[in-house]
Amino acid sequence: MLLKEFKTPISGKPVLIGPDSKEDIFIMAIESSCDETACAIVKNGRQVLANVVASQIKTHQQFGGVVPEVAAREHLESINLVIAEAFEQSGMKPSELTAIAATVGPGLVGSLLVGLNAAKALSITYDKPFIGVNHLNAHVCANYIDTDLEPPMIALLISGGHTQIIKADSYLKQEILGETIDDATGEAYDKVARLLGLPYPGGLNLDRMAPKGNPKAYQLPQARVDGKYDFSFSGLKTAVLNLTRKLEKELGYIPKEDVAASFQECITSTLFKKTLKAAQDYGIKQIVLGGGVAANSEIRKKFFALENDGYKIFAPAMKYCTDNAAMIASSAYFLANTMDSIDIEVFSRC
Ligand code: KG4
Ligand code: ZN
Repeated sequence: MLLKEFKTPISGKPVLIGPDSKEDIFIMAIESSCDETACAIVKNGRQVLANVVASQIKTHQQFGGVVPEVAAREHLESINLVIAEAFEQSGMKPSELTAIAATVGPGLVGSLLVGLNAAKALSITYDKPFIGVNHLNAHVCANYIDTDLEPPMIALLISGGHTQIIKADSYLKQEILGETIDDATGEAYDKVARLLGLPYPGGLNLDRMAPKGNPKAYQLPQARVDGKYDFSFSGLKTAVLNLTRKLEKELGYIPKEDVAASFQECITSTLFKKTLKAAQDYGIKQIVLGGGVAANSEIRKKFFALENDGYKIFAPAMKYCTDNAAMIASSAYFLANTMDSIDIEVFSRC
């Protein structure tokens, strides 16, 4: 039975949560790990009743990246609004919720504190169990939303801060097969985008530019690393820097579309090859994508083409790829690496 007993913080009443529950479970979740303040209400881990995201993109754009102190202050300004909006969208009352969840980490400490404390306050006020969630597990769980996906599966997690290949044998049992030894995928995208003069958030803008260029224009290096499923992207970023300098000197300008297309081809084929290798090695025919970079058009194209070879491919809807709270609620429901102590402290790294 996949059920875990949580306790309400005031009366100590036991509440069973998990996919084997006979009752409908309504989880309100809060996400504030980086530059999105989000609140969602999700029924039984898959059906989104409310999904509210207040993005700080405009604020951080002027600095070319996220400024942690500014982010924390903006979360404080938005948090009550997104919670109120989630109740309004869903038409639910606090008393009807089963539990309150929040991201505990990894992320920016000042930002995480805002969402976590808001969730703890709601949990105590309404005497609902508190469920702490790991942001990385939640990106994978975003694939459960609006689908009937069930493990086993190989997950490729590609976000601004992380790159991992995960083998999920069941809802609970997950093993990290490989990860980046330096830059994360989103980080590499954002750095290369900056080199090309594209505004923050660079990944999306680079993705929009790449189809206008020739992906074979420049040969960029695919790093060799010791771990079979590990990644390294810092050399690729340096290679793009050297290439842009050389082109500027030789041509007097940078053919940005061709550089963007060549970079996108290089990084997406590295991610694709290693993930497919993991799936083949373990004989798993189901692959799921997660994290902000899972919104990337080329990544999706490469992986979905595998459906012709008998693979089942899942990628969250765009709004559930980048940071959101619906995936946090889903992760809480499926008990993916959850924490139940209301005294839990935020953590910045895994
Ligand atoms: O998962 P996420 O919203 O935040 C973290 O947990 O890090 O991921 C944000 C990252 C950023 O680096 C952003 O540039 C990248 O996802 N991103 C993309 C695309 N959309 C967002 N990268 C490539 N192509 C996209 N379409
Ligand atoms: Zn994220």
